[in-house]
Amino acid sequence: MSSLLSAIAVRLAYGATQLPRIAWYVGHGFAMRRLAESARQRAGEVGRRHQPTNVHVPDRMQIYADMAVLLRQDLANLEAGLYPLPADHDGSFFNLLQRSRLFFEDLPEIHRRRERGGHGEVLNEHTVGKRPHYYLQNFHFQSGGWMTDESAKRYDTQVEVLFNGTANAIRRQALPQLREVFARRDQRKLRLLDIGCGTGRFLDQVKQVWPRLPCIGLDLSEPYIGYARQHLRRWAVTSFLLANAEAIPIADASCDAVTSIFMFHELPPGVRRTVFRECARVLKPGGRFVLVDSVQRGDRPDYDGLLDLFPRNYHEPYYSTYITENFEEIGRASGLTHLRNFNAFVSKVMVFDKPGSRASLVPKSSQGPKALGLASLR
Ligand SMILES: C[S@@+](CC[C@H](N)C(=O)[O-])C[C@H]1O[C@@H](n2cnc3c(N)ncnc32)[C@H](O)[C@@H]1O
Repeated sequence: MSSLLSAIAVRLAYGATQLPRIAWYVGHGFAMRRLAESARQRAGEVGRRHQPTNVHVPDRMQIYADMAVLLRQDLANLEAGLYPLPADHDGSFFNLLQRSRLFFEDLPEIHRRRERGGHGEVLNEHTVGKRPHYYLQNFHFQSGGWMTDESAKRYDTQVEVLFNGTANAIRRQALPQLREVFARRDQRKLRLLDIGCGTGRFLDQVKQVWPRLPCIGLDLSEPYIGYARQHLRRWAVTSFLLANAEAIPIADASCDAVTSIFMFHELPPGVRRTVFRECARVLKPGGRFVLVDSVQRGDRPDYDGLLDLFPRNYHEPYYSTYITENFEEIGRASGLTHLRNFNAFVSKVMVFDKPGSRASLVPKSSQGPKALGLASLR
């Protein structure tokens, strides 16, 4: 009886945290599309732009049904004890409103760039030569690209609006893959590197499961790292590297796991390969690489039309090569063994291992009764 009650309590608590969040960001998406439409009407551009009519895109009901599949999986993971009831750490309501204001304030600028195909404002005399050329663009047509504090403050809202409030739930689908590697090991002696960590939202989810796991967030954006440092200040043993993932400043074979969330589709094909090799280099034998990014062509045939439209509506210059990229082959060429892929709404999780055995398992005799449960991972 008490286990039934606690199961109901978990479901209620999950719904109470996730459903209002989804409504919030879905609402932002509706408002954003209405604003864009009325801006076009004012400019007399009705019907000039927009989706080609022969492209099949999933309708709203299908999208909501697919979001429900993701949320059911998220709930099943927490009911199975793979991670605790997630906290999204969105801040106070006042904070949410402030971020919402920043989001809406930038929409006219985004609209202006989208209409004229402008994406080169980040490459200027202050930035040229300081970052790779491919990096200095207005990805998503957003103001400041990756290079400003304002962009870092807006990013989480923009991503959640894009994913209808499921971005964190998508990120969490990487956690069970890490758990396979971390289970029955002393988390304090392990090390995780998250490349392209952005504002640190994924590392926040990681730390909720393994608070004493030493984690490093690496990113090429100073403002995003600054934001991530602030967002993750509640957690210990977390550090940051302002560095290019093409040349990770970490010793060979020194990480037990490497993760990358929503970054690979923004890399040119050659850079993708270099970054993969770097991930393989810094992994210990038996270490794991978990890559979460967009689904690719053919993963969800009913979404293929959307994959064609996405890079046009959000400046994504390398997306068309990303969706046809053979990641199993890149993994093999980098010395990693591909284990599995699975979809998570409009994203997919790809899992690779570096051949070799994992060291320092806690001996079975020293495991307590809850050794395989969540408590033992803390
Ligand atoms: C779409 S964001 C993803 C951020 C984060 N992982 C998330 O879950 O939202 C891509 C991130 O990759 C970073 N990035 C892109 N190219 C990079 C590179 N070559 N080296 C390091 N970081 C890079 C950007 O600065 C940005 O923070």
